[in-house]
Amino acid sequence: MKVFDIAPVKFTDEKMMILDQTRLPGEEIYIEANTKEDVWEAIYHLKVRGAPAIGVAAGYGLYVSVRDYGGNNLDDFRKLVKENSEYLNSSRPTAVNLSWALRRMERVLDQAMKASGSFTVEDAKGLLFAEAEKIRIEDEESCRAMGEYGLSLLKPGMGILTHCNAGTIATAKYGTCLAPIYLGQERGYNFKVFADETRPLLQGARLTGWELQKSGVDVTLICDNMASIVMRNGWIDAVAVGCDRMAANGDGANKIGTSAVAILAKEYGIPFYMFVPASTIDLDTRTGDDIPIELRKGEEIYQMWYKKNMAPEGIKTYNPAFDVTDHKYITAVITERGIVRPPYDVNLRKLKNE
Ligand code: MRU
Repeated sequence: MKVFDIAPVKFTDEKMMILDQTRLPGEEIYIEANTKEDVWEAIYHLKVRGAPAIGVAAGYGLYVSVRDYGGNNLDDFRKLVKENSEYLNSSRPTAVNLSWALRRMERVLDQAMKASGSFTVEDAKGLLFAEAEKIRIEDEESCRAMGEYGLSLLKPGMGILTHCNAGTIATAKYGTCLAPIYLGQERGYNFKVFADETRPLLQGARLTGWELQKSGVDVTLICDNMASIVMRNGWIDAVAVGCDRMAANGDGANKIGTSAVAILAKEYGIPFYMFVPASTIDLDTRTGDDIPIELRKGEEIYQMWYKKNMAPEGIKTYNPAFDVTDHKYITAVITERGIVRPPYDVNLRKLKNE
């Protein structure tokens, strides 16, 4: 089995299974999510993470949360869907794919209810499941397309720096910014990938390192503060990262530390590519200043990966999970519909047809 065939969320025989990414790279374990609380907890604790994968989990999660409704009152069912959607949406604030997927699920339900007077609760359940499947399948197709567009910007043998994990387990399949690396791998491009470890939760070391090594890609792990030296050494020809929410002006929120890499890339004259599916472009968010940034517990910085605390007792902490890369540092935005160049405020709107 190829690594990009490992799905972060699987739904078979009425069972929603989530690959527990907090156990990687040591253990590849799927957990079952039976309730809305299970799904909320899995997203909150990053068992499933990465913007598109969170969207996929939200779609199936909403279906799971209402499938056991025993009544036949469609209005009551609709209220339950809304309540559960709001609940799931409260699990994490930054990745817009979460609210995007939930809104999409609610919208199709409303449209179907409006269109047919004989629509039943059972029909509604079937429709929600079908829409969750569509979200997953479309994401897979979109990642494949992003891979092709991304690959068109790269040449064999290039050194590529990436931050966090925007790979297959962050999406339905293939990944966003790792998709061209997988396609390149199949076509003999021999990329040399440098993976930032991505403190404090180590998505780069644990997840990108795991994915790429397992796929036979030449990957070198570095600490986040080593990005400058590898660029200065001349080892990096392009930076490729994912995105959690891109505002209408092209500012993009991604894992904490991304903006520092972008600023360095500009200094060294290295192209900085952000891979952003259309579902992650949020035209209702005007600029990066309007993107909500998740703050997480300080223990993640000084305690989580260590046998004993690595900071004095009672230390103050600041632990934002994301930062915003200003659009002026982004060379191009790679989407499934094509490559977008500045001016982003005009071209992103054109791409989304809004
Ligand atoms: O906190 P995480 O692990 O969910 O953060 C993930 C990222 O920042 C990814 O780069 C982003 O979601 C894009 S995934 C295709």
